[in-house]
Amino acid sequence: MAEAPERNLALDIVRITEAGALASARWLGRGNKEAGDGAAVDAMRVSFSTLHINGVVVIGEGEKDHAPMLFNGEHVGGGGSLSLDVAVDPVEGTNLLAYGRPNAISVVGVAPRGSMFNPGPSFYMQKLVVSHEARDVVDLDAPVQVNLKNIAQALGKSIQDLVVFVLDKPRHEKLIAEIREAGARIKLQTDGDVAGALMAADPRSGVDVMMGTGGTPEGVLAACAIKGMGGQILARLDPQSYVEKDSINEAGIDMREILTVHELVRSDDCFFAATGISSGDFLRGVRYIGKQAVTHSLVIRGKTGTLRYIESYHNMDRLSKISAVQY
Ligand code: FBP
Repeated sequence: MAEAPERNLALDIVRITEAGALASARWLGRGNKEAGDGAAVDAMRVSFSTLHINGVVVIGEGEKDHAPMLFNGEHVGGGGSLSLDVAVDPVEGTNLLAYGRPNAISVVGVAPRGSMFNPGPSFYMQKLVVSHEARDVVDLDAPVQVNLKNIAQALGKSIQDLVVFVLDKPRHEKLIAEIREAGARIKLQTDGDVAGALMAADPRSGVDVMMGTGGTPEGVLAACAIKGMGGQILARLDPQSYVEKDSINEAGIDMREILTVHELVRSDDCFFAATGISSGDFLRGVRYIGKQAVTHSLVIRGKTGTLRYIESYHNMDRLSKISAVQY
């Protein structure tokens, strides 16, 4: 049956990621990732309270980094009947921000209560992300070369034409060697695999696939966007220490299970917003033009797959007179 358009929460949550980006952008390149992250957390907390939702943070700020938190289990939003799981990363790529490198973004995803995968004590997961054309040909257990061959075929190009996004970490030495051996090209970035996943899921980005191990929370956040984009993320918990492994075992979580985009977010009724903090490949960072601050955001509605890019011009003089946050 035909439906009248419902409220698109992505257009609400983008105000929260804009607030996070505006607050943290003041810390670009100043070498202090905690301060940048803290500024974004404070601004986003205030912004969340203006939203008529009853949200619980499932994916919160970096327990791993002992960063200031929108902590897991925290209730956010001004209340109301809309019960939501909330995934939030005020600054995804805190080092990218601190050192003025590309692709630091502020991110929020929401989905109906109980539909997001809860990482529990898991910090790291192995991920493989592709766009919709290649979503049915990938297999997390297949050799790298086989996946690349199948992805290339699905995209109608040769392996040599592929670009694989990989986090530049010592743990990826073997993976990088295998990708090179297969003949594909690599985009190595020190941090920020949510941006990497978004690029891999977007056929226009110039990145064809993301491979490797990154944060578990970041995997769930990326899944909120990949749902709407129609791509695929395959993921499996990949603890990087004995302590992490023991905690996952104690929590009774199956480490062998391969999770797809539909297990990471079990509802199509999800929404995603990201705002650029530092300029990158797919979002521009915060720019200051006279008294205006300009933000660039991507918002996605899971149900319809509608993607919007929003450029906002914030009048800082007027904003400073009414805003509870000083940007
Ligand atoms: P932060 O924003 O918390 O610094 O995370 C950046 C990031 O690069 C993520 O994009 C990625 O998933 C994770 O860190 C990888 O963790 P690590 O740097 O410990 O390998």
